[in-house]
Amino acid sequence: MATANRGQWSGKTGFILAAAGSAIGLGNIWRFPYTAGENGGGAFVLLYLAFVLLIGIPVVLAELSIGRTTEKNPVGAFKALVPNSLWPYLGGLGVLTGFGILAFYSVLAGWTLSYLYGGITGVYGGAMTAAESTAIFEHLIGDPTLSISLTAAFLFLTVIVVRKGVSGGIEKATKILMPLLLIILVGLAIRSLTLPGGVDGLVYLFKPDFTKITGSVIMSALGQALFSLSLGMGAMITYGSYFPKTENLHQAGMMVAAFDTTIAILAGIIIFPALFSVGVAPDAGPGLVFVVLPTIFGSLPGGQLFAIAFYALLSIAALTSTISLLEVVVAYFVDEKGWSRNNAAWILGALCFVLAVPSALSSGGSEMFTNFLGSGVDFLSWNNIIWGNYSLSLGALLITFFVGWKWGIPAAMESLESSGHKLPGAKLMGVLIKFVCPIAVGIVLIYIIVTQQYF
Ligand code: TRP
Repeated sequence: MATANRGQWSGKTGFILAAAGSAIGLGNIWRFPYTAGENGGGAFVLLYLAFVLLIGIPVVLAELSIGRTTEKNPVGAFKALVPNSLWPYLGGLGVLTGFGILAFYSVLAGWTLSYLYGGITGVYGGAMTAAESTAIFEHLIGDPTLSISLTAAFLFLTVIVVRKGVSGGIEKATKILMPLLLIILVGLAIRSLTLPGGVDGLVYLFKPDFTKITGSVIMSALGQALFSLSLGMGAMITYGSYFPKTENLHQAGMMVAAFDTTIAILAGIIIFPALFSVGVAPDAGPGLVFVVLPTIFGSLPGGQLFAIAFYALLSIAALTSTISLLEVVVAYFVDEKGWSRNNAAWILGALCFVLAVPSALSSGGSEMFTNFLGSGVDFLSWNNIIWGNYSLSLGALLITFFVGWKWGIPAAMESLESSGHKLPGAKLMGVLIKFVCPIAVGIVLIYIIVTQQYF
């Protein structure tokens, strides 16, 4: 039994929904399509799927097992397992990374709110060309006051849920809405596939051209797999810590991974046919999804309603993800520093807002952040890459190394199977966690450093 004041999910379904809520978000619907588009399509998608299977799932299980055994936030978990060591700093890196991700993610999440507002006021009801849609998007992101206000609004919503604690807030928000999102996505996918020229999009998305694989494509695919599954910074340690002891944890973890990957691929099946049909370049960058989608809504019967439902659900999917990011940071200050949950949520939410301002100004609002350090890359994208790709990869490497070599596979397996449900393929999973994950991630990181293909 988890200590009474930490709370627990109401059951396996509660966990699956909350963890799927964390995993499914802008990572699937915004980040996956634009990253796939920038990295050449099919070959990237294949690598991404391979990384989900060979690295994502083992890391999911590694994190959940640590969380279940220790019932702690990432820092407390490592302290409990190896006191007086450097390992708690790995938890600290996770907390920091959660903060780093939240500080740019909330800006994008704010954009979805603005699109929701646009849906309600009828902006996307009629036919719209790619040029018109681009103009709307650029107007939005280039307006500093609007971007900053939307970011604040989104963080405010996140704080409101997190201050209530796990089962009160997080679970309820997810229960009905995730399945609804799936239904809307299937509807949009059907529309997109029947657009003239849509098939070219599918070919781009699924036909691998192996000549396109470079170090940075591999790195992006690895980062995407980890980011999308909310791995590498202890979110699943934290969520696993609230998991009931009597339920089948590994099955729940795998279901979350399957659900998350399905949604990402579905998002690809929506975006790529549509962008080929309306003539947007696949490597248009972070604005891709925001620009492409409004062009589909107009051609749908009841397009405005579709747009409202879609942006409402996307905002909620983003919210269940920002909740999990803030939750990790809050759980650390509540468990380790003795803060009240309420204070932690407000103070950390406010601090995150301050850190998010440069990202909110980085799409035209301020020249300094739009072209950060003269790199030609904006501040938001810098954060996306540093925290979302590198920090998560380093975290995944060290977490699997920890479980494989320090804590031990038997202890992890015992934790995963403590409900009495045997993990199918446990031997293979042990090999993946102990050898394949740390070595493969290590090779990718070293390769990137040696070849200096950082972006
Ligand atoms: N996985 C979420 C998404 O795809 C984002 C996210 C939430 C996340 N919590 C995380 C990413 C923890 C990395 C780590 O939108």
